[in-house]
Amino acid sequence: MDIQYLVNRPITEAQFAGLLQETTLGARRPLENHECIQGMLDHAGLLITAWSGDKLVGAARSVTDFHYCCYLSDLAVSESVQAQGIGKELIRRTFGALKPGCKIFLLSAPQAEAFYPKIGFTRHHSAWLMSGVEELR
Ligand SMILES: CC(C)(COP(=O)(O)OP(=O)(O)OC[C@H]1O[C@@H](n2cnc3c(N)ncnc32)[C@H](O)[C@@H]1OP(=O)(O)O)[C@@H](O)C(=O)NCCC(=O)NCCS
Repeated sequence: MDIQYLVNRPITEAQFAGLLQETTLGARRPLENHECIQGMLDHAGLLITAWSGDKLVGAARSVTDFHYCCYLSDLAVSESVQAQGIGKELIRRTFGALKPGCKIFLLSAPQAEAFYPKIGFTRHHSAWLMSGVEELR
């Protein structure tokens, strides 16, 4: 399949939500909150997209300073084209947009837990998460 990859090409909220719905990530993102999804696109910093013709079939959406750290928040490949190397290529191209030495980190969805070690990610045992200020003690 002929896939074209683009860096920071603007996509609409509907395109992004549509792609997420074509993956198990759809159930894990607030698709009904249009302001949130639009904000995720507006402030992402780095968006690599994969296209089959004019159809969006994959995306890697990151928040990054480009030099030190890159948080890969959403990696999604449409179920119709999974297992063809697109997910790995989206990560390769994310690195391609970063300065050498800039690290990618992420939180894995349960369905992708075996994917990341397979393509070379290492598990970090010191990751910490706080979901809101009300959790601050
Ligand atoms: C996870 C995901 C992005 C992988 O994209 P993909 O294009 O299917 O992956 P690739 O084709 O690049 O896979 C690279 C390798 O990993 C393997 N792989 C893909 N998904 C896997 C999974 N969930 N578990 C284990 N291995 C996986 C592939 O078989 C391939 O192996 P190979 O090189 O031996 O052939 C895609 O399946 C997806 O969108 N899943 C649903 C959303 C999701 O969970 N995203 C991650 C959120 S953190």
